[in-house]
Amino acid sequence: MKKEEIILQYLKESTDYLSGEELSRKLGISRSAIWKNINSLRESGYVIESVTNRGYRIVNSSDALTPTEIQGELKTNAFGQRVSVFAEIDSTNEEAKRQAHNGEIHGAVFVAEQQNGGKGRLGRPWKSPPKSGLWFSILLRPDAAPAQVSNLTLLAGLAVSRAIRTQTECDAMIKWPNDIVIGSKKVCGILTEMTAEIDRVHFAVVGIGVNVNDEEFPEELKVKATSLRLETGATVSRVALLQEILKEFEALYEEYFVQGSNQWLKAYKESCVSLNRTVGATRGLQKIIGTAVDITEGGELVVQKQDGERIEINSGEVVVQGIYGQTPEL
Ligand code: BTN
Repeated sequence: MKKEEIILQYLKESTDYLSGEELSRKLGISRSAIWKNINSLRESGYVIESVTNRGYRIVNSSDALTPTEIQGELKTNAFGQRVSVFAEIDSTNEEAKRQAHNGEIHGAVFVAEQQNGGKGRLGRPWKSPPKSGLWFSILLRPDAAPAQVSNLTLLAGLAVSRAIRTQTECDAMIKWPNDIVIGSKKVCGILTEMTAEIDRVHFAVVGIGVNVNDEEFPEELKVKATSLRLETGATVSRVALLQEILKEFEALYEEYFVQGSNQWLKAYKESCVSLNRTVGATRGLQKIIGTAVDITEGGELVVQKQDGERIEINSGEVVVQGIYGQTPEL
């Protein structure tokens, strides 16, 4: 164990201040080395008080985004068994892809306190400021054909909606394919990317961004965005939420990719806010308006037009009546 982790352990176990002298004796290193390690823990997000003549005391360690906290209560087999945390990075999806090319393992998770090049769907930027959000990506190496990977995105959406319900009791729903909404506002976005041959996936990266503890949004986003804190009035632990998402996602991943079961689809449909609403979508150059009536086993949204024709949509932007303050238009 690294010295830093040993100090952390002592601080967590102690009910009172721990003096620098005592820590230096326990670890057999100088007091200035203790001080350096304490500062490095602070940089990782731990809040550590220091009081003259008394020593150090840790305050609320549970929400520091560190591998130690994240893996502490993690109940998974593969997802998050390797975790890399960055104070700042371009995009956790980009990092996951870079590490995938370096041979990083299935289930590895990349978390950032802040992204300076966060990416959204359809080439949009994704604002990723520090402290309030949970920005992370999971590297997956499914033994699957590329067509199955679009369902990976739906599974991730279902996992996040379940985790939010467990952690906050918010009525989190899914806007097809994988935005998570509470009421009519977005609380989470998911960006899945993959590298594949015609018939074999090399790897997929599922990037998840959750607005957790934001207290407000800029004017232009207010109608569209919300956070768990705004919905519950309380601070939500990003670490606990991440652990829950990984647990739910791994279970669904195994169900679909390992056992070959489609059971998840029923649960997905029950949580999908797009169904039975008027939706607007594009397929190629064609614009479609109709009612979303079903989701296929391949993950496509089935839209029934007024003339009765049913069209399966598999990608792109879908406007759902009443969500994000939008109305479908031709
Ligand atoms: C969307 O709704 O447009 C998808 C947003 C996905 C954002 C997450 S944040 C973590 C990961 N890294 C990125 O650059 N994007 C995803």
